[in-house]
Amino acid sequence: MDTRPIGVFDSGIGGLSVLKEIRRQLPSEDVIYVADQGHVPYGPRAVEEIRQFVAGITQFFLERNVKVIVIACNTASAASLRYVRDLFPAIPFVGMEPAVKPAAENTRRGAIGVIATQVTSQGELFASVVDRYASGVEVVTQVCPDFVTLVEAGELDSERVHRTAETYLGPLQEAEVDQLVLACTHFSFLIPVLQEVMGSQVEIVDPGPAVARQTGRIIGELRNLSDHRGEASYFTTGDRGHFLLLARRLMDEPVERDQMHQLIWHEDRKLNLT
Ligand code: DGL
Repeated sequence: MDTRPIGVFDSGIGGLSVLKEIRRQLPSEDVIYVADQGHVPYGPRAVEEIRQFVAGITQFFLERNVKVIVIACNTASAASLRYVRDLFPAIPFVGMEPAVKPAAENTRRGAIGVIATQVTSQGELFASVVDRYASGVEVVTQVCPDFVTLVEAGELDSERVHRTAETYLGPLQEAEVDQLVLACTHFSFLIPVLQEVMGSQVEIVDPGPAVARQTGRIIGELRNLSDHRGEASYFTTGDRGHFLLLARRLMDEPVERDQMHQLIWHEDRKLNLT
């Protein structure tokens, strides 16, 4: 078995929704998770700036000898997947792609909703999946920046989350979409509220499980032949204590203080441990 760890990152805690699936599907793998909470949200930023962050995080993972990097962030994937694949050709990347294909296949009414950040909704990756998979289907896109801020603050089910969801999802309800694609990993933690607002007839498409499967395919078939339970370590460029509280709430497994590490960005755009 190749014992090198899997690197997983997001601008914040959204990617934990993907990490949870990786832990479930690939339990013997060691994982390293990086949350760039010092820079969250990525959604309203310039593509060029996001690329620099992703290159810095990739460098950090390479120093830790990872075997694959999962970009558990639609925004970072939209802005930089092609860029980092060119820049670091020796390491495989798994990126997030808005799950328009299954939604377009399963819609009965011919209308699907996609909720995303600004960078994702304006990116080429999104335009290309709509082009390839959604011909003849109405695609209603809604940018939902406040969801990211709310989830980062640990608000998953508050009155404010409900009100925000009602506002954002109004146009999708009017268009009578019957599929709701989560094109931002933070939004997975809001599924109960999103389902309540949209109604039970709307199917929510969360790409986390498919991304974990794709990661498994890339690292090969030998992965689960050992009894070893993989270790998880977590790094944040934000507040370590806040991240610990959220990770404890959101992961399906215990998270100890000594698994949490503080990272800082240096001026040369490199990440270092404090
Ligand atoms: N989790 C991110 C995504 O999937 C983050 C959004 C943000 O940082 O704005 O797009």
